[in-house]
Amino acid sequence: MSGVNIGIVGCGAWGKNHVRIWSELGYLRVACDLDRNRLDALRAQYPSLETSSDIEAVLAREDISAVVIATPAPTHATLALQALEAGKDVLVEKPMALTVAEGERLVETAERLNRILMVGHVLEYHPAVKRLRQLIAESALGRIRYIYSNRLNMGRIRTEENALWSFAPHDVAIMLRLMGNGPDQIACYGGAYVNHGVADVTMTNLRFPGNVFGHIFVSWLHPFKEHRFVVVGDKQMAVFDDTLAWPEKLALYPHRVDWVGGQLPVAHKAEAALQPLEEAEPLRVECREFAECIVSRERPLTDGRSGLDVLRILAAAQESLENEGWNVNPTPQADSKTYFAHSTSIIEAGAEIGDNTRIWHHSHVRAGAKVGRDSVLGKNVFVAPHVHIGNGVKIQNNVSVYEGVELEDHVFCGPSMVFTNVINPRSEIERKFEFRRTLVKRGATLGANCTIICGNTIGRYALVAAGAVVTKDVPDHALVAGVPARRVGWVCDCGEKLKLTWDIQRCGACGKAYQQVDEHELAAISDSELLSVS
Ligand SMILES: NC(=O)c1ccc[n+]([C@@H]2O[C@H](COP(=O)([O-])OP(=O)(O)OC[C@H]3O[C@@H](n4cnc5c(N)ncnc54)[C@H](O)[C@@H]3O)[C@@H](O)[C@H]2O)c1
Ligand SMILES: [Zn+2]
Repeated sequence: MSGVNIGIVGCGAWGKNHVRIWSELGYLRVACDLDRNRLDALRAQYPSLETSSDIEAVLAREDISAVVIATPAPTHATLALQALEAGKDVLVEKPMALTVAEGERLVETAERLNRILMVGHVLEYHPAVKRLRQLIAESALGRIRYIYSNRLNMGRIRTEENALWSFAPHDVAIMLRLMGNGPDQIACYGGAYVNHGVADVTMTNLRFPGNVFGHIFVSWLHPFKEHRFVVVGDKQMAVFDDTLAWPEKLALYPHRVDWVGGQLPVAHKAEAALQPLEEAEPLRVECREFAECIVSRERPLTDGRSGLDVLRILAAAQESLENEGWNVNPTPQADSKTYFAHSTSIIEAGAEIGDNTRIWHHSHVRAGAKVGRDSVLGKNVFVAPHVHIGNGVKIQNNVSVYEGVELEDHVFCGPSMVFTNVINPRSEIERKFEFRRTLVKRGATLGANCTIICGNTIGRYALVAAGAVVTKDVPDHALVAGVPARRVGWVCDCGEKLKLTWDIQRCGACGKAYQQVDEHELAAISDSELLSVS
């Protein structure tokens, strides 16, 4: 093919396979590596091969139309971007980048400059995976129930990226391709033994839409090599074992479950049927695809966008790994959203959330709830249907705002404070229709661990002390404390405690003037009123 002139950047353990294949295909023009010993060894093997240790010089060459990047993972994003900006088509090894933001930048740059961007998810080009795709498309496996990959071996311990980033990109790429959609929940656990902070073993559990589950188990501390990919369907089960010889790599098991007398499920085991495959080296198929796309300007199967989908899953798994396996939803935020919701939070369709509001880990906003703008919902906050929350409200961790509660603008709810919505709950009696209204007025503060019994109103700028239990209405500006809560003073709009006196007084912090009218009322006095009094 004319116009296919390849430069390879990074000719180490994996890059030298690219050198072999691209030189056999006849498209290799230059091999580039920082390590001159590597280049010497390559020239000994390929006497006519031109080599270079200067990537800038390679990228500046007009006779090089495309580059393959097979350097260590942390350099991928930078080098791929540099190559795209130099006008080259790029095949970058997996993982395409180490952050989603870097991946997005690569995709955006390739699209803007009209360059081919391909990611080296080589197993997507494996004949067994191609056959699996066909089988699933023909519905030969039936409905998929479970899908997993074990990629285990002893060695190639990496120090820069962990086992998840080193091995799992392949498994994620295949799963996304076979399932046709991504998981909506991911949990990943792992252990780092050789190198502090670099996981050697990870187990990622995935949940796909439609009750399909899966796992990806990777390790470089395993007694023997196991590369096994299994798809459990309700008609047949498929096993792709890449350690076996070609005729045995892909096997189908038409196992069945029968219901005896409609009562008892009985498993029927069937003989495995080996699937004939065309024998082809996956990397060679991948390289051919890249060459064809350079000429045709079509998108490769494993283009930048599909690489980015894989990256999002890896990033979600990494987030879970760093947080003891908590569940992460990897679905990207729709761009139209003007608020932030952490990936572990659930915002039901039909919930209304204002601009600039931030919702943190594991919080849940039900359909029909309204949250204003510039508000913050901390971790594990629950907002029930029909609840209205105003603008600039801050809710600390572990607070449930039940139906019947309304929070006006700028209310502050301290950590683990409690709202109730039924006055006399009984487990045996449904009291859904007896919810009492609890109104918290503008600017009020509800201290940590306090409890607000339903049916009461908390006045404007009132302050409920930590641990108090509020059993009756709280006047505006009142400071209440204790169990049951009693008024122990007054507070200014700014939160400063006022002196207990009947005289007109100014707040020591902000200067606002107040006068107590009676035991239940504090009146704010404007400066003009003050003048006329004095
Ligand atoms: N697709 C696959 O199945 C597969 C398999 C193995 C490795 N890989 C990927 O290939 C990449 C390389 O892995 P490896 O095992 O060959 O590593 P390696 O360390 O053996 O080789 C990396 C090479 O890159 C060179 N290099 C580093 N920075 C460079 C730069 N700025 N310019 C030019 N050369 C530079 C190094 O000198 C070294 O020769 C990794 O990202 C890895 O994830 C992919
Ligand atoms: Zn004040």
